[in-house]
Amino acid sequence: MSGILIDSTRLQTEMDTLAAFSDAPAPAVTRVLFTPVELSARAYIKQLMADAGLTVREDAVGNVFGRWDGDDPALSAAATGSHIDAIPYSGRYDGTVGVLGAIEAVRALRRAGFRPHRPIEVVMFTAEEPTRFGIGCLGSRTLAGRLSPDALTALKDTHGIPFDEVRQSAGYTGDLTAAQLAPGHYYSFVELHIEQGSRLEAAGAPIGIVTAIAAPATLRVVLHGSGGHAGTVLMPERRDALAAAAELILAVERAGRGSDSPDAVATVGLCHVYPGAVNSIASRVTLEIDIRDIDLASRDRMVAQIEAAAADIAAARHIDIERTVLNADRPCYGDAQVLAAIRDAAAETGSTAIELVSRAYHDTLFMAEICPVSMIFVPSQHGYSHRPDEYTSPEDIARGVDVLARTLMRLASS
Ligand code: GLV
Ligand code: MN
Ligand code: MN
Repeated sequence: MSGILIDSTRLQTEMDTLAAFSDAPAPAVTRVLFTPVELSARAYIKQLMADAGLTVREDAVGNVFGRWDGDDPALSAAATGSHIDAIPYSGRYDGTVGVLGAIEAVRALRRAGFRPHRPIEVVMFTAEEPTRFGIGCLGSRTLAGRLSPDALTALKDTHGIPFDEVRQSAGYTGDLTAAQLAPGHYYSFVELHIEQGSRLEAAGAPIGIVTAIAAPATLRVVLHGSGGHAGTVLMPERRDALAAAAELILAVERAGRGSDSPDAVATVGLCHVYPGAVNSIASRVTLEIDIRDIDLASRDRMVAQIEAAAADIAAARHIDIERTVLNADRPCYGDAQVLAAIRDAAAETGSTAIELVSRAYHDTLFMAEICPVSMIFVPSQHGYSHRPDEYTSPEDIARGVDVLARTLMRLASS
């Protein structure tokens, strides 16, 4: 077998093409599940998979699988992949590096004359981002059996359109029950992703090997007050939903800052005010709250503190609250054999690699429910992510793809 060579020029051209499927002006990227731009981007990825000689299949929620059969097609596959949806006004690297990079890894392995013993499968997951349906990792969560067909059917998008209607109008009409994969369906799963933090940059290491992923939880709190005229309803009569929400937002920040766990974070990233007029008291406010820690007990303590604060604020201000836990997931841990394969692959490329925990969540969190996993991180300049100036150099991406290809080679040979 000749050496593995990554075609960085071609990969960068594909990154440029994919970035242009966007509803925001460059350099920002907005690519929301099953919008026209996202459907065009999907078509592009499926074409690249087919051009790379992969057999393409899609499931009922729109997860896309590209399969390269090994000598023994009956063996479980060594899988890899990521997502191409992008939150509003974000960057072009989050997720896409792990999809386009996986396809280039397959092409590089083919060019090198490698023949896998077990199949290799590239997966493009549906909606890793929670933008449209409020829940992250919709596709991988479904594969892992953590989002049942009933729960999927109950989901509504930000405009109140049911998931079933949205997926069917995107052309996904299959049986939802068939989307779940049995434990052991895959031999392994490895996701290449940008770090989205600054630890690799600070360490001067081009490769990160992920030993665990922090546990995320998302709460939705709807505060119902009493609306009215901003000039005529005097202050003693007010039940202002937005003023109550402001107190709750600060309580969320306190829960994160007050934790003695170093990875504890708590964020309110979404606030909808109704009716939303300067001369009108807010009668209703919806907040979505993101709470994470690698330490599950610490994450749960923050959730409990925030819930208690919401109840106290509501009682003191005579506000009614509705609270929904959209998700409360467990952390996951890297598998010893998969970690060893990545370590060996990184060493073969002569790259310095450090081991680290992922504070961002990824589809790997759910793949861990059905097979051994880990991730390969490449540096994010200044640690920026979920913003338009997210950047990873072509050299770092190519190195990550090289390590991915060599990792897949090891896993698909075992
Ligand atoms: C994924 O995008 C996350 O929010 O961690
Ligand atoms: Mn993201
Ligand atoms: Mn991502």
